Amino acid sequence: MKKPKVLVTRQVANEAISLLKTVADVEVWVQDEPIPRELLLEKVEQADAILTMLTERIDEELLSRAKQLRIVANMAVGYDNIDLAACKKRDIWVTNTPDVLTEATADLAFALLMATGRRLTEANRFLLNGEWTSWSPSLMAGQNVYGATLGIIGMGRIGEAVARRAKGFGMRILYHNRNRKQQAEAETGAQQATLEALLRESDYVLLLTPLTAETRLLMGEQEFSWMKPTSVFINVSRGGTVDEAALYQALVKKQIWAAGLDVFQQEPVPQDHPLLSLPNVVALPHIGSATEQTRGEMARLAAANIVAVLEGQRPLTAL
Ligand code: DGY
Repeated sequence: MKKPKVLVTRQVANEAISLLKTVADVEVWVQDEPIPRELLLEKVEQADAILTMLTERIDEELLSRAKQLRIVANMAVGYDNIDLAACKKRDIWVTNTPDVLTEATADLAFALLMATGRRLTEANRFLLNGEWTSWSPSLMAGQNVYGATLGIIGMGRIGEAVARRAKGFGMRILYHNRNRKQQAEAETGAQQATLEALLRESDYVLLLTPLTAETRLLMGEQEFSWMKPTSVFINVSRGGTVDEAALYQALVKKQIWAAGLDVFQQEPVPQDHPLLSLPNVVALPHIGSATEQTRGEMARLAAANIVAVLEGQRPLTAL
């Protein structure tokens, strides 16, 4: 019997590929750059399953070319690159990779918070540039982390994991979320707040919400104006949640103190992007879940979802 065909759009953990090969013919796009759109459109025609990254846009145009596609397994927890309604219309499963990346992403969010509050990248550049001539009381003075107030916008699994870390740093935790999170409140002392109250009171504002029609450009001119001049803004969600021009103005006008950004509206962020010119911006190349272990688990989970569907079962993490 002819085996189903699986297209994997990037080189991922060998174990995941081996798992897929137990049930399918597998083609892997092994280059470092994303698969060119035209080629993806061509290859999807024959695919029964695709294991995608957030760099692939799964939309009407692509789905209309697919003749036998049964599942899109995204190797990410976010899925704003996928038109869910268009997949549903065609009875194509869509899966993501929740849980396995929660702790690694929470680690990165907290690391970025600390690096920004304590000016780590700026201090490192200062030293490497040979500018360190003497110790001084104000040299690279940052903002306290221990005992500060952390405001988490989007209190999902990752937000709760960050809150657990923040508790260890004696932080007061506020969160803004559609639903109340009673377990997180009991575990970490977190308190639910309106967006305005959270922005006015927090020393660190951490954005973790998924990108949806509701959260697009959630942080704009007004929202930044509610923050304190000593406050730090961190984004580990999606670049589309932030009005970058308004963030730039807030930083330049010293309405807020610094920003730590793992995500940008356009990725890779252009080298001449105004935000990258500011010393008080810590910028990272979307590495929230990037540990060897976590990326391996994400790939294995995405592969397991595909195997389940190809064997006629319900995938483990269906959307
Ligand atoms: C996700 O999973 O959505 C991250 O942004 C990439 O790991």
